[in-house]
Amino acid sequence: MRKFLTTTAIAAVMMTMGSVSARAAEGVEVLHWWTSGGEAAALDVLKKDLEGKGISWTDMPVAGGGGTEAMTVLRARVTSGNAPTAVQMLGFDILDWAKEGALGNLDDVAAQEGWDKVIPTALQQFSKYDGHWIAAPVNVHSTNWVWINKAALDAAGGKEPANWDELIALLDKFKEQGITPVAHGGQPWQDATIFDAVVLSLGNDFYKKAFIDLDPATLGSAEMKEAFDRMTKLRSYVDDNFSGRDWNLASAMVIEGKAGVQFMGDWAKGEFIKAGKKPGTDFVCMRFPGTQGSVTFNSDQFAMFKVADDKVPAQLKMASAIESPVFQSAFNVVKGSAPARTDVPDTDFDDCGKKAIKDLAEANTNGSLMGSMAHGHANPASVKNAIYDVVTRQFNGELSSEEAVAELAAAVEAAK
Ligand code: BGC
Repeated sequence: MRKFLTTTAIAAVMMTMGSVSARAAEGVEVLHWWTSGGEAAALDVLKKDLEGKGISWTDMPVAGGGGTEAMTVLRARVTSGNAPTAVQMLGFDILDWAKEGALGNLDDVAAQEGWDKVIPTALQQFSKYDGHWIAAPVNVHSTNWVWINKAALDAAGGKEPANWDELIALLDKFKEQGITPVAHGGQPWQDATIFDAVVLSLGNDFYKKAFIDLDPATLGSAEMKEAFDRMTKLRSYVDDNFSGRDWNLASAMVIEGKAGVQFMGDWAKGEFIKAGKKPGTDFVCMRFPGTQGSVTFNSDQFAMFKVADDKVPAQLKMASAIESPVFQSAFNVVKGSAPARTDVPDTDFDDCGKKAIKDLAEANTNGSLMGSMAHGHANPASVKNAIYDVVTRQFNGELSSEEAVAELAAAVEAAK
């Protein structure tokens, strides 16, 4: 065929190839799990920001809340020598990839823009490896939240539950109203997200000793049995179809008034906002009863992989765009999270967003800011998955609370 091409045609083909590779050099390929309505709306803020800077976006969405599936796909990509430019990632996973030598270096852009001074140290622990910047944090989420349908709450007397007993009383009232008290999706990461909040509700020290220190005595304690008993109690308020349900469909149940509450991180707020709902009017956000003052956080960061030299400029531009204060506000207002910098004004945030920012600052000052076990900020994946396994089996009635306590201590010990 080739011999039939005229010189002009060959020149035209070569020019096209040239402009394709020039475009590719100014583009980023991004692997992420932001596929729900609210998440996609937030992602769009990032895409548009980059496109405005002349950087094209190749999308690699991998559905699955919490990112378990995304991490499996990523492993396959990197193993085949084809790492994406940037990957949405949580906590210890970032450090694991850094240890493997797979990540690039953002030191220059971080130094030019003074990231050290404005990104909280709790996040820097995961954005830096061996003193070098390897990831750009985009937000701070936290898991100890409750999302309540306001009309259902009003019909139940209007009082936000201040402690465990009041929470249970409220769930009973939702049952009397004929709605599903707790909207939940039976997936290990969602069960674990509730467990974060339940364990935290038994005290900061307990959470810290159990999930951060992995103290065997705490993991095997009577208090841990109490935590599992509380999970059993909450399980009695979910509907029959909960198994395998995606988290955003559970949010929709609360949005539509079919359910009373969802226990979920503040990405749930992104769904309420996307549906046109307003905090204080249509829904109420509060910390899980007994956990006000403490925050179990997770930060989405874009881990930057080692890529071919011609792709590095776009990668660095993406990192810089993510850390811009204007972008941080615009993105996090939509995502439901707090900014990953301490100097972003809360002006554009709704009341739940303002509360998230305030709670985060206070918890950071008071030493009550702790990494989320469920979202990879307390332990490496091996330990996290060992905990998921026990929590899910117990939640589904395969283990009694006593058995779960014994298994938890043993599983964590084996995975450490
Ligand atoms: C991420 C959020 C995401 C949520 C549900 C969490 O691990 O931090 O950004 O919205 O999972 O997919």
